[in-house]
Amino acid sequence: MEFFLDTANVDEIRALIPTGLVDGVTTNPSLIAKSGRDMVENISEICALTNGPVSAEVTAMDAQGMIKEGEFLRTIAPNICIKVPLTMDGLRATYELTGNGHPVNVTLCFSANQALLAAKAGATYISPFIGRIDDTGADGMELISEIRAIYDNFPELNTKILAASIRTVLHVKDSALMGADVATIPANILSALAKHPLTDKGLAAFMADWESTGQSILPQ
Ligand code: G3P
Repeated sequence: MEFFLDTANVDEIRALIPTGLVDGVTTNPSLIAKSGRDMVENISEICALTNGPVSAEVTAMDAQGMIKEGEFLRTIAPNICIKVPLTMDGLRATYELTGNGHPVNVTLCFSANQALLAAKAGATYISPFIGRIDDTGADGMELISEIRAIYDNFPELNTKILAASIRTVLHVKDSALMGADVATIPANILSALAKHPLTDKGLAAFMADWESTGQSILPQ
């Protein structure tokens, strides 16, 4: 399973890249707004930090506009993945852009039928928004499981499931159990995945016992 960082904050990305856990990055207009930076500058800096795909989202609402913006975004760096919304225009843009060899992440997916359409249009990734579905009282994870089942029924569909809108460590575990190909994760959640109170407690005990030996591993 791949992990993408769901952020436009270069400091967060720079801090986590050395862990080897970051396979790519996703951004969206809200994350760009939160960064307070110029989009092109910010995205190009992010692309230099990772060899993995960096999703950058178009803002045009019509297919032709999305295609133009997508083609422009692809000139920023070779690892740009064009992100388009799941609308009929977005699907038309996906069909044309992927047909011309550009990777496309179709975002704002809230139903299995939408995911089926995105795959038929040739999407590289489909992004179901788990957390936002949970917010409505429905079960976001059920959507991941439905999409997995549908895609597995039709091996000619090559779209990867990118679990998005992840808000908790449980979302990450459940996405992995449901067979999502990728999870895009906020930096704080990625760090929280490594935490366990018994690890901390066990480590403290090991360190106390080690100290009592008066030894050091490296020659003094
Ligand atoms: O990548 C977009 C997605 O992860 C948004 O998350 O928390 O704003 O629903 P959120």
